[in-house]
Amino acid sequence: MKTDLMDDFANADQAAQLVLSRTPLRPQVGLVLGSGLGAFADSVSSATRIPFSEIPHFPASTAPGHAGQMVIGAVEGTPVVVMQGRVHFYEGYTPQQVIYPVRVMARMGVKALILTNAAGGISSGLKQGGLVVLSDHINLQGVNPMMGRNDDRLGIRFFDMSAAYDPEYRAQALAAGKRLGINISEGVYVAVSGPSYETPAEIRAFRTLGADVVGMSTVPEVIAARHMGIKVLAISCVTNLAAGISKQPLSHAEVMETGERVKGDFMALIRVVLPGIAGGV
Ligand code: HPA
Repeated sequence: MKTDLMDDFANADQAAQLVLSRTPLRPQVGLVLGSGLGAFADSVSSATRIPFSEIPHFPASTAPGHAGQMVIGAVEGTPVVVMQGRVHFYEGYTPQQVIYPVRVMARMGVKALILTNAAGGISSGLKQGGLVVLSDHINLQGVNPMMGRNDDRLGIRFFDMSAAYDPEYRAQALAAGKRLGINISEGVYVAVSGPSYETPAEIRAFRTLGADVVGMSTVPEVIAARHMGIKVLAISCVTNLAAGISKQPLSHAEVMETGERVKGDFMALIRVVLPGIAGGV
């Protein structure tokens, strides 16, 4: 994929047109499913499924647990576009490639984005399998996806991030989680590049910095979404306790197992918050 600014805009437009030509639905809410959380896409009705490989300029997801397709359908009557799988910096993709799916959704007309991820739990009180509604983030990935020339058609050069995670969406998600009896809290996400998991010393440092959960995704998408004025709700599933807190070595198998175990809670929560988000865009 070319990374030239003008191409990027035109490419995303071309991809959006292709996707929209395959479905009568015009979703205003997008959903990105993280590791082990892809099952939600199977529960979408009247679905059109398009493998990433068929979408112009789309990067292919290589991470296990990321199916790599776009699903456009309805969840209890609410149209939604779902990214079943995402790409990460650790796979070798450029920042432009990592945020390309968000660009495509924006060109499709998406105004609100729900991002999910698997994360390691840092703060005490977090339990494996709990959900954390993100209130803020710390970007330690070493890159900002908006570096380079600014495309003024998408957003301004220097944009605000002081309420990146929409306060109303956060309140709605927390209230819904509590109503459903789900183990849910709010917290700050620290983003690292991966692919190695963190060292125990890094986790102690992140805790001192004010992070509650740690992961390898989401932040580039949040930054790109906010640049374009798209509202964001992000939810982490604590798939494991972070390095040094967990007594066992960390493994991707554990991440996937917990995602599998918690998918019921997670799907129930999304089903409850989605209509409110779609109604308010
Ligand atoms: N660290 C970073 N990313 C993760 C973790 C973790 O412990 N668990 C799931 N994704």
